[in-house]
This record gives sequence, C-alpha cells and structure tokens, in this order.
Amino acid sequence: MNMPPIKTIRVHADKADPYKIYLGHNIYSRLPALLEDLKVSKQIAVISVPPVSNLYLSKIFEPFGAEWQIITRDVKDGEQSKSGDVASSIYTWLIENGFERNGTIIAFGGGVVGDLAGFIAATYLRGTNLVHVPTSLLAQIDSSIGGKVGINHSLGKNLIGSFYQPKLVMTDVSVLQTLDMVEYICGLGEVVKYGILAGPSFFQLLEDNIAEILDRKPEIQEEIIEQCIRQKVEIVRQDTFETGIRSSLNLGHTFGHALETYFSYQELKHGQAVLLGILCSVQVSRLMRILQEGTERRIMNLISKIPVSLPGKLDDKEIDRLLDIMQRDKKVSDGKIHVIGIENIGKVQKGAVEKEILKKAFNILNEFAE
Ligand SMILES: NC(=O)c1ccc[n+]([C@@H]2O[C@H](COP(=O)([O-])OP(=O)(O)OC[C@H]3O[C@@H](n4cnc5c(N)ncnc54)[C@H](O)[C@@H]3O)[C@@H](O)[C@H]2O)c1
Ligand SMILES: [Zn+2]
Repeated sequence: MNMPPIKTIRVHADKADPYKIYLGHNIYSRLPALLEDLKVSKQIAVISVPPVSNLYLSKIFEPFGAEWQIITRDVKDGEQSKSGDVASSIYTWLIENGFERNGTIIAFGGGVVGDLAGFIAATYLRGTNLVHVPTSLLAQIDSSIGGKVGINHSLGKNLIGSFYQPKLVMTDVSVLQTLDMVEYICGLGEVVKYGILAGPSFFQLLEDNIAEILDRKPEIQEEIIEQCIRQKVEIVRQDTFETGIRSSLNLGHTFGHALETYFSYQELKHGQAVLLGILCSVQVSRLMRILQEGTERRIMNLISKIPVSLPGKLDDKEIDRLLDIMQRDKKVSDGKIHVIGIENIGKVQKGAVEKEILKKAFNILNEFAE
C-alpha cells in the first residue's frame, strides 16, 4: 500500500520527554502504528466536538484494529466547554469506563478541545498519555505546540492549567478545507505573527503567496504550517516555561486582548484581534522610532490583503476604555503597559509604552473600521 508522505518535526521541551509532530495530508491512517511505537496501552479516549467528529471521527477510527478499546466523547462546541464542570463530567466518564493511566487521551479538534483534553490528560490519575490531533489552523500552528493546557474560570480565561507535553502530535492539513473562513483568518493572525518573528525568508514566502494561502492551496498551506510549527517549537525549546523569549509570541496580543474584550469576543475573534493588534504594534514601533524603514509598508501591505476589519470606529472615549482594559492585563508592571515592538522582520523587543503613543496607535486602526 502507498503511504502518504509525512514530515516529522522533533520537539525538545524542558523537563519533558522529546516527542514528534507528524505533518502531512491524509495521514490519520498512520496513527495506530505510531501509538504502537510509543508502547501505550490499547485504551484510547477521543475528546472532540460535533463539527469535527461528524466529519472526521470515522477517519480516525478506521485504521484501528479490534484489539483497541476506543471510547469517544463530544463536548459542546465553543469556548464554554473549557470549564471545570465539563472537565468534571469527563473525569466521571473516564472513571466509569475504567480508563487507566497508560491509556491515551486524543484531543481531536481546535484549540478549545486541545486545551481541555490536555488539561484532563495532565490531571486524570496524575497524568495519562496525551496525543494532539489538531484540526483548526490555530490549533495546528499554535495551541497544540508548547504544552500549555488549561480551562477557564468564571473570573477569567485560562486561569487554571498546567504545562503538559503530548506524546505525539498528528497534524493533517487536509481537514482545514472544511474550516469556516473566519476561523481560518483567525489562524492567519498567528501565521503573520510567526512571519514577523521568524525573519525575512518566511515573511517573503507569505508576501509572495498570500492569495494562494487565502485560497487554501494545499501545498503552500503545508509549507506555511511547517514553518510556523518550527518557529514555535524553537521558541518553546529555548523557553518552555515562558520566563523570557517565549513572551515574543505575544506580539500583537496585548492590543488584541484589549480589542477582544472591548468587542466582547463576539464581533471580533482572537486571531482577527491579533491581526489588528499587530497593526497597533507597527504603529507604536514607528512612533517610538525603533522600526526600520520599509518594514511598516511590508507588514501593512500583507495584512491589508487579509479580510479583517475593526467592527466600528473608536472615538477618544472608547480608546480610553481600551487603555483601561490594557491596564488590567497581566502584562502591566510598575503601572506601565508593556508591548512587543517591532524593529525589523525577524527582530522584536519588549518595552514599556507611554499612554499617548498607545492612543495614537489605536487611532490608526480607524482606517480599518467597517
Ligand atoms: N494552549 C495554547 O498554547 C493556546 C494557544 C492559543 C490559543 N489557545 C486556546 O485555543 C482556543 C481557540 O482555539 P481555536 O481557534 O481552534 O477555536 P475552536 O477550538 O473553538 O475551533 C474553532 C471552530 O472551528 C471548528 N473546527 C475545528 N476544526 C475544524 C475543521 N477541520 N473543520 C470544520 N470545523 C472545524 C470548531 O468546532 C470550532 O467551531 C482558545 O480557547 C485559546 O485560549 C491555546
Ligand atoms: Zn494568539
């Protein structure tokens, strides 16, 4: 039988066993053999959401022989499933099914499923095997890498969690064809972020192929996803527990979080807010005179080709409210707001920024209002 080609990316996170990310098209058939190699037991619990399981669960199941005991559980689609209540109901389900410590929990879905199932795997019986099978663009390039797992608390997002690395990650690019365009664009927010962090050749690849990327052409998609994964893997290798360089992954996020909160997560999703947040970072960097000539034009040009807009114009009062939200964000120390500024493609720096400059940066966003 002809096996589809598969790429392997090795991950060495601090204080965890190394593992591999497998990347390709139509590669789910390889999962049983890869699990055999890991010497895990034959118990598998798949945690998913209906939009993913309805389309793809049979593809995951098919290649497994009768010797495997597979149980599956759908949670409700959406962020609300990253809760203590849902986690608790899954613990009950695992206990009632006699799920043991050497079994494997498969997170099959977007970042919500990855964070939730990862948290369950980290805590159930003090840790079971975890396999990520990410299906959204964001999950494939971001949330399935780096070991952050967790759930939300009524007082805030991602407040309860841990670092817990998977045994393997299987990233099949072909499933992205069914992702909603808005969700795809959200993933592109993180792609552009990696493009700026990575350096000239990857950024140029994005500039040259943005139309094909938006068209979801499989070959370019796989190339882009591979580059993003490698970029995050390298940052996580250097700083697994986010005490330094890993914070560069917050590029565009301090502004983005404020915008998400301001527009109450409905009108603006995370990745869209990150794209707008990167535009703000560009403006801050220009106003602080750290941005190299030509870089502003390149980043603005690239983002202007991606369909994203501010849900409404922001007047001075509204910008003040955004600053208040930023002030409450955890990236504030000594009362100052810290953001990741851009010097050049491939070079960023973190620094405190005056309120007047932040205000001007938000003002520029009005050019991107609907
Ligand atoms: N752990 C980390 O390091 C990390 C990093 C970034 C984000 N996150 C978390 O990730 C979450 C966001 O992840 P997300 O953007 O993937 O959201 P999500 O998991 O809600 O997925 C987005 C939507 O796409 C659907 N979907 C997923 N794959 C699909 C496919 N192949 N075909 C059709 N529909 C599909 C989902 O059902 C959902 O409706 C947030 O909770 C965020 O906090 C975690
Ligand atoms: Zn993000």
